[in-house]
Amino acid sequence: MFAKTLLGASLLASMTILSSAALAQTIGFSQIGSESGWRAAETTLTKQEAEKRGIDLKFSDAQQKQENQIKALRSFIAQGVDAILVAPVVATGWDAVLKEAKEADIPVVLLDRMVDSDKDLYLTAVGSDLVHEGEVAGKWLVDTVAGKDCNVVELQGTTGSSPAIDRKKGFEQGIAGAANIKIIRSQTGDFTRAKGKEVMESFLKAENGGKNICALYAHNDDMAVGAIQAIKEAGLKPGTDILVVSIDAVPDIFQAMAAGEANATVELTPNMAGPAFDALKAYKDSGTMPPKFIQTESKLYTQKDDPAKEYEARKGLGY
Ligand code: AHR
Repeated sequence: MFAKTLLGASLLASMTILSSAALAQTIGFSQIGSESGWRAAETTLTKQEAEKRGIDLKFSDAQQKQENQIKALRSFIAQGVDAILVAPVVATGWDAVLKEAKEADIPVVLLDRMVDSDKDLYLTAVGSDLVHEGEVAGKWLVDTVAGKDCNVVELQGTTGSSPAIDRKKGFEQGIAGAANIKIIRSQTGDFTRAKGKEVMESFLKAENGGKNICALYAHNDDMAVGAIQAIKEAGLKPGTDILVVSIDAVPDIFQAMAAGEANATVELTPNMAGPAFDALKAYKDSGTMPPKFIQTESKLYTQKDDPAKEYEARKGLGY
């Protein structure tokens, strides 16, 4: 009886191993690069999620170039992967390669950025409402300056990327009813800390050493952190002389907020892969079609939200 139970148990164990091996998936992930702390965290979390689920993740870093992403996608297709994740650096130019994936019957999931291709060419997209994020930042500024005149400088993300396009639009919508708030300068800082600093230096020089500037709106926290450095080097106090609002909620911005050098950030979760893998599993296992857009939350954090505690909670998460 005992021997029979043991035999049954070992049979069951080997069947479980066999079935999980049968379910093991190979998924290609074309990442943009590592321009920001947020993106580094997204990469780390995607790798961790894949490992947890026994997925063989083929990772490719495009070094900010769309042509490298297209090459990576074609190589994933040639290898016959089960699915593809792609964080598209810019919104246009994806039709041909997405059609190739569809013809090869390989589902594609977009992560954190959108494309302007036909929705039939990808299975789903996981991301935030990028327009809403900008709108939240704009409304925060309207409430904070409470009718006072305020000249804003804007650091845009990568030109042609969906977050740069939509966060700009959203912010403009957020301040639309406030005639006291004006965007006086707007330029790309490419989502990087170094470019954010460099462009902010030029804004400060052009605007009377910064005296004409009331607020900075940056499309991500990394550019804001670079700009904060430039503001300090110009002899002004970021967070007081120049208000700072940005997007992502990375640990470094909470550190700046705790020091009074930044005022607000809108959270973008770096865990886009969890919902993407769930959607792919349901699709593969039972043919369940996910919604075309799986939306993540966008929460506003200000200096009232205990930024030091937020920093502690996030600092080990791969940012
Ligand atoms: O697409 C999301 C944006 O890309 C993040 O806000 C930014 O930090 C990143 O590089």
